[in-house]
Amino acid sequence: MCGIVGYVGKNQAPSILIDGLNKLEYRGYDSAGIAVHDGQNINILKTKGRLSNLIKLVIENPLTGTLGIGHTRWATHGAPSDVNSHPHMSEDHVIAVVHNGIIENYMEIKAELLEKGYHFISETDTETIAHLIDCYYRDGFSFEDAVFKAVSRLEGAYALSIICRDCPGTLIAVRKGAPLVIGKGEGENFIASDIPALLNYTREVYFLEDNEIAVLTENSITIYDKDKNVVNRDIYHVTWDIEAAEKSGYAHFMLKEIHEQPKIVRETILKRVPENGDGIVLDNIKLDKQELDNIDRIYVVACGTAYYAGLIGKHLIEKICRIPVISEVASEFRYMDPILDERTLLIVVSQSGETADTLEALRIAKRNGARVLAIVNAVGSSIAREADDVFYILAGPEIAVASTKAYSAQVAAMYILTCHIALAVGKMTEEEFKAIRDELYTLPSKIELILQKENVEKKLAEKYKDVRNVFFIGRGLDYLVSQEGSLKLKEIAYLHSEAYAAGELKHGPIAMIDENTLVVAIAAQEELIEKTINNIKEVKARGAKTMAIAMKGNTKIAEVADDVIYIPRTMGILAPVLANIPNQLFAYYMALSLGTDIDKPRNLAKSVTVE
Ligand code: G6P
Repeated sequence: MCGIVGYVGKNQAPSILIDGLNKLEYRGYDSAGIAVHDGQNINILKTKGRLSNLIKLVIENPLTGTLGIGHTRWATHGAPSDVNSHPHMSEDHVIAVVHNGIIENYMEIKAELLEKGYHFISETDTETIAHLIDCYYRDGFSFEDAVFKAVSRLEGAYALSIICRDCPGTLIAVRKGAPLVIGKGEGENFIASDIPALLNYTREVYFLEDNEIAVLTENSITIYDKDKNVVNRDIYHVTWDIEAAEKSGYAHFMLKEIHEQPKIVRETILKRVPENGDGIVLDNIKLDKQELDNIDRIYVVACGTAYYAGLIGKHLIEKICRIPVISEVASEFRYMDPILDERTLLIVVSQSGETADTLEALRIAKRNGARVLAIVNAVGSSIAREADDVFYILAGPEIAVASTKAYSAQVAAMYILTCHIALAVGKMTEEEFKAIRDELYTLPSKIELILQKENVEKKLAEKYKDVRNVFFIGRGLDYLVSQEGSLKLKEIAYLHSEAYAAGELKHGPIAMIDENTLVVAIAAQEELIEKTINNIKEVKARGAKTMAIAMKGNTKIAEVADDVIYIPRTMGILAPVLANIPNQLFAYYMALSLGTDIDKPRNLAKSVTVE
């Protein structure tokens, strides 16, 4: 939620800040702003709406200066408006702040500041920070020390970037519970919420840890802990290219990311199951037989799409490894008083590695002695750093808000993990593993085949774009794929859509079926297909339009469903990763037909760093 950037150096800050915000717009996009120090004063431009509005404003009112901060917002406190946009300034225009996160005790601090005579013009919690720093600064503390004092008062999760009128060469970054990366340049330094904002300028980055404050000048970066002790941090060299964070000719990031899936699934699989190797390579992930013998319960916890990938893992681990697995969305797990001890393994799944609820679930588990294995995409993210073990999925930066390639890689990771656990606990023979492994290797080219026929989904989206309600139905693993398919349609096409276990349809939702309803039946689990066919007949009899996703060669389903999208044949347990691709394409083309903002759907943000 919210993207922040900062620059200090010799070059003009405005274009660097805007360029950075452009790469971070996926984090929030209801308003944007920059503050630039011109050597004398801090000047601010900010506006409601997309970054393009800010760019217009900057063209009409050019700012100059070599120090600045910028922000793209996903509103929490106060509706999106010019005045609530960041940066926020102290009343005397001495301190300017951009903020990602929530200050939980801001009302209390605000009351104190009001009493001291401060005036507030916005409804945000952030304005309180600007005034609070200003208050300590007026009391005689240096800019740095005023920030330390103010930060020690703040409760909540936040990342901040701050400048001061009287310090034209100093940029301060603060992190607690929201991501912040520092980019090291030559004679210039940078701050950003995420790496893509830095890649045009540097590949050398430091990840700030919670409760750390960094002071940047053009030639120095000093990281302090909360007690102002200097912290030595290793530099991290980013290996992926800027192209990975650009559209490369595709109309949308989402379409580009859908098309990256063959490559990403291939890389995720080959890294862990090398072609000429003997088995599964988990590197430092400690999950051998002895460790697994000490585990009697597994939780799979995540949010959104990552949760649906987690559900596939739960299903497979239980079915194949015969270990009880409980799955729960992280926002519920936090408050359900879960049974956790040293015999529990918590598997958290997260693309960004920064989702607040998932991170908190991880912390609760660790506090209670459980082991945490994180399946994460973003290298160096909070979840990756705090987990006991990390399984990186290597999907590269995912920019579109709706997750696609991360899901496929997460599901591939679940296949590998399941096989590893099953082999270790003796629930899978080497022969069984080899059969799965050989089939795993074929998945990337099978995804490729589905993508080559994307015209099918495009035409179906055109045909069904006027439906009012969509139900995704399925049984077993197909039901789990339905849930992700339904979420995609909600997220980007803003269509009312629900996923239902096919057998549950009769227990209520069938009452809603009429001729404005589309039922998408996922029918890739062949042993369950007869029953799903019956469900398709039931909804058709009540006027619904029907579409099915089934494995090639299944002609029976074509006799009942209005339309069938065929996927290449594979083992039932591996079908989810294939069956989900048509869902992604269908959602994409539905959204395209309906004219929504595909990469930045309304009200959403890619990285949800608030509860
Ligand atoms: C947000 C995003 C989703 C994502 C979910 C979990 O809701 O819009 O696409 O699945 O967060 O994010 P994570 O980064 O933890 O996978």
